[in-house]
Amino acid sequence: DAPAREQWGSRLGFILAAAGSAIGLGNIWRFPYLAGEGGGGAFVLVYLFCILGIGMPYLFAELSLGRNSQRNPVGAIEAIVGKRSAWLIVGGFCVLAGFIILSYYSVIAGWAVGYAVKDIIAPGMGFEAFVASPTLVITLLAAFLGVTLLVVLGGVEQGIERWSKILLPVLLVLILLVIFRSVTLEGAGEGISFYLMPDFSGLTTEIIIAALGQAFFTLSLGMGAMITYGSYLSKKENIATSGIYVVVFNTVIALMAGFMIFPAIFAMGVDPATGPALVFVVLPEVFSQMPLGGLVGVTFFILLSIAALTSSISLLEVVVSYFVDERSWSRKKSVLIIGGITFLMAIPSALSQGAVPSLSAGGIFGPETGFLGFMDYYVGSLGLALGAFFLSIFIGWVWGADEAAQEMMQGSNMSAQVLSVWMFVIRYIIPLVVLVIIIGYITGTL
Ligand code: PHE
Ligand code: NA
Repeated sequence: DAPAREQWGSRLGFILAAAGSAIGLGNIWRFPYLAGEGGGGAFVLVYLFCILGIGMPYLFAELSLGRNSQRNPVGAIEAIVGKRSAWLIVGGFCVLAGFIILSYYSVIAGWAVGYAVKDIIAPGMGFEAFVASPTLVITLLAAFLGVTLLVVLGGVEQGIERWSKILLPVLLVLILLVIFRSVTLEGAGEGISFYLMPDFSGLTTEIIIAALGQAFFTLSLGMGAMITYGSYLSKKENIATSGIYVVVFNTVIALMAGFMIFPAIFAMGVDPATGPALVFVVLPEVFSQMPLGGLVGVTFFILLSIAALTSSISLLEVVVSYFVDERSWSRKKSVLIIGGITFLMAIPSALSQGAVPSLSAGGIFGPETGFLGFMDYYVGSLGLALGAFFLSIFIGWVWGADEAAQEMMQGSNMSAQVLSVWMFVIRYIIPLVVLVIIIGYITGTL
């Protein structure tokens, strides 16, 4: 007999693990730089609409698909359409996307780790030189990926859930410390009003599409992470309520990231629209000029590393769950083999930042910022949109929105009206909106 499949130990444990997956570089690195480029408050408003109107209902759908079969993304699809269906390719792409996103994500996370200890390992070194140093970036990548493997080796409850329960509260406390320092700087008010007062004149199609893409990335959607995490949920859990907690935590942390960054940026008179370099180039400069800045900088990069870790474990778990469920590999074998391959796959991303015109050129992370930007663009943005498109069609039309709704209703008490609105959104709104994003990406609006 196969051993019983793992499950979350508690409802809170699931919520924190899923929130941990959601809360990551997306909240603290990507969201602030997009907001900085999109004129602050206006971007924030559009982003909130995307999260509530698109991201949240679609999150419920992925969680329901996972819990329905208690399987990884491939197995979840197979449970509905059988072994021979072409839809299995979509599940396969989820697993592949897990590999790829984990590889470049770990490179950026490695920089964060390196910046937390920068005064020791590379004092005074600029960002350009730092990311171009093969020894530094490869060592940091290996260290970050190694910790990710250790957590996932522990399993669903003893690894992922246990560490999420420890790390998330620590993250929150560290964020509050940095916010306190930032908003008490002289001139911080200007940053707060940039962040909160919408000025729609800077809002372009490019930024709106970026906000939509960010809604998927930030909630870990479109590549099966939430299918996988949902697959460890018991039938007694309330998917909608737990999902709402995840969305709220994720949104609060993203908004808090803005309160760490913009007051400090404006207090020091720096331009907020510097793109992906905002956190790695601009912030350290800002920190170096302010009282207690050294300490704040270290705190900031530790919290950034922690946020990245609770997300990288979910990326790895997508791939691991596939090999455990479908190939009957042991968790240990899966983690070690997948970890090794991911490390090799990450090397081109890690080495790609030496020759690029530089991340500090402004704009949005994209193909022009080297192999790493290329991956974030084609897999982390376009890829997730494609994944969400096919998965929402699959859930809404192939499995059927009514079946999905029934799964979601187990353990919950949603009203019939809310449920029918949800079904409509899943079948029509999400595929349509996502199609617009995809066309936007492909026609090179971005
Ligand atoms: N949600 C994570 C973040 O915001 C990134 C992620 C994407 C994690 C997809 C898992 C799956 O950083
Ligand atoms: Na996020």
